[in-house]
Amino acid sequence: MAEDNNIFSQQLSSNDFALLKDFIEDSCGIKLSENKRSMVEGRLRKRIRALNLSGYKEYIDSVLKNGCDSAEQMHLIDVITTNKTDFFREPNHFTLMTEKILPYLSSNFNLGTQETLNVWSSASSTGEEPYTLAMVLAEYFGLGGNFNVFATDINTNVLQIAKKAVYTEEKSIDIPYEYKKKYMLRSKNRADKLVRFIPEIRSKTRFGRNNLKDAKYILPTQVDIAFCRNVIIYFDAKTQEEIIQKICSYIKPGGFLFMGHSESVHGMKLPIRNYAPTVYIKE
Ligand SMILES: C[S@@+](CC[C@H](N)C(=O)[O-])C[C@H]1O[C@@H](n2cnc3c(N)ncnc32)[C@H](O)[C@@H]1O
Repeated sequence: MAEDNNIFSQQLSSNDFALLKDFIEDSCGIKLSENKRSMVEGRLRKRIRALNLSGYKEYIDSVLKNGCDSAEQMHLIDVITTNKTDFFREPNHFTLMTEKILPYLSSNFNLGTQETLNVWSSASSTGEEPYTLAMVLAEYFGLGGNFNVFATDINTNVLQIAKKAVYTEEKSIDIPYEYKKKYMLRSKNRADKLVRFIPEIRSKTRFGRNNLKDAKYILPTQVDIAFCRNVIIYFDAKTQEEIIQKICSYIKPGGFLFMGHSESVHGMKLPIRNYAPTVYIKE
């Protein structure tokens, strides 16, 4: 029977979905349940058309079976990850930082002033979380404050977007007007409706690729504050615990860990204690 080369009329077979599912879970921890099948089909369809392949089977065979095409595997991971994020997402975390944590770290340890305060956004997506952190730190310490924001993610596409630091005006709606005025510039062509972070904010925010499933992470230093929000929900319980343990090893004793509001570390063996809802202090 002739193969149906129209990707729109094809379905991802159970066998190929199972291969893909195992690869994704092994390589980056993300669990793909059966109800994600149509989402995966849809996202791969575009890629298969771009590569001019005959369909899902040829794609899976070439990427996963016939030796390791690591560039395309990276692309596959980019396609599969969910990158939803916002500026000032879960805003009470930033209020807590400004009202409690930054005053505590700066008055007790001179962090942000004489000593460098290092903050890490470990699943930074398109940059909204790390730039929110940079603005909050700049607001507290001034633009000349002694702080860095390290931002890492597994997805190379989102990292590229983040590095550009350009957002639509619509996307920046969650940024308070006073912050926008101080920390963002409008595009010269007003019709573009684009805004960009000022160089001082950009230079404080450094991006790199990290896979949280890897044994070690690439970070220039241990950090005083780590954000790991809205990412472990995609992993199984064992992977969640392993990852949070590793993240904790990159936080200095007495430093802080922020998790997403729907995420729990309940029952995990970790060197942290609760400080506020979904915020922990490293022992
Ligand atoms: C839903 S976004 C959350 C972004 C941000 N932390 C927030 O709360 O708005 C999840 C991010 O985790 C990233 N991610 C998924 N698996 C990862 C892994 N194994 N290592 C690093 N990042 C990962 C995705 O690429 C995505 O950008």
